[in-house]
Amino acid sequence: MSMPSKVKIVDVGPRDGLQNEKGAVPAEVKIGLVHRLQDAGLKEIEVTSFVSPKWVPQMADNAEVMAGIQRKPGVRYSVLTPNMKGFEAALPSKPDEIVVFAAASEAFSQRNINCSIAESIERFAPVVAAAKEKGIYVRGAISCAVGCPYEGEVSPERVEMVARLLKDIGVQHIGVADTIGVGTPLKVQRAMEAALRHYAIDDVSGHYHDTYGQALGNTLASLEMGVWQYDTSSAGLGGCPYAKGATGNVATEDVVYMLQGMGIETGIDLDKLIDAGKYISDFLQRKPNSRAATAILNKRAG
Ligand code: HMG
Ligand code: MG
Repeated sequence: MSMPSKVKIVDVGPRDGLQNEKGAVPAEVKIGLVHRLQDAGLKEIEVTSFVSPKWVPQMADNAEVMAGIQRKPGVRYSVLTPNMKGFEAALPSKPDEIVVFAAASEAFSQRNINCSIAESIERFAPVVAAAKEKGIYVRGAISCAVGCPYEGEVSPERVEMVARLLKDIGVQHIGVADTIGVGTPLKVQRAMEAALRHYAIDDVSGHYHDTYGQALGNTLASLEMGVWQYDTSSAGLGGCPYAKGATGNVATEDVVYMLQGMGIETGIDLDKLIDAGKYISDFLQRKPNSRAATAILNKRAG
């Protein structure tokens, strides 16, 4: 498989990035981030999640954020929906895409969504059917595809099994997620190969958290397999509330810088992307968690 000439990036910063923030982030700031990301050329943005506000208080303003976005033609807006209740709550917001999220580890499934893997598939099935009936595209995520904070190393066979279960209920695309960023390039390739046993190369994406600084390497290893879709997070924001210590997804800025340098098209304006990351980082009163953004901001200042 040859290196792709184009890559699609889904910025998950407003959702995966901000879900774990302790302090309040007003809806208008989240909307401001989405607007800056779409102005930078992002064609898909994972905006929010329709989960229990008791579990993830930061996403309680889901409907308000979705309603406040001035949608840009050609941009897709996705949201997480773990069950029918979340799906029904999401419908008035008219998402282009919904995400159901399973795990390759039983312990993580229990901690994250309070049910076993098998039960989660049962809950997703009617969500997938209802979404497809309404013409809403369905993406799935496989958390802990290489490692779990509770069970340790996760085998590719587990990923293969969950990919098969998601395929069986009609999920159209799957993201292979290194939730806690423990993966290294060959392990991530093995997990991706397992997913590719049930999904075509055009229907998989990489979702790599950068806890151990491996996410860019894991992205390159996936590019070498021909994988051309990635979830990344503006300014490297984030982490999962049910994966303690895990940091955000690989920074969108770092991935775009790497891809530009490799001559791979993303359609993203790096300078505007840096501005988006700076906007949210300034609000959070911290520096962007991105080496490329830091370097470019230093250069601008100089
Ligand atoms: P549960 O407690 O088992 O649900 O939670 P339940 O059906 O028993 O209902 C209990 C209460 O929750 C009820 O309310 C329901 O109405 C309410 P009460 O009667 O007690 O007032 N409820 C809901 N409220 C709002 N929206 C809903 C909803 N469902 C039930 N959709 C549930 C199950 C899945 C809801 C819960 O465990 C939950 O919300 N978990 C949070 C999961 C989450 O958001 N995790 C982070 C995102 S996943 C992630 O970051 C990983 C990813 O990035 C990939 C990777 O990196 O691995 C995608
Ligand atoms: Mg994640």
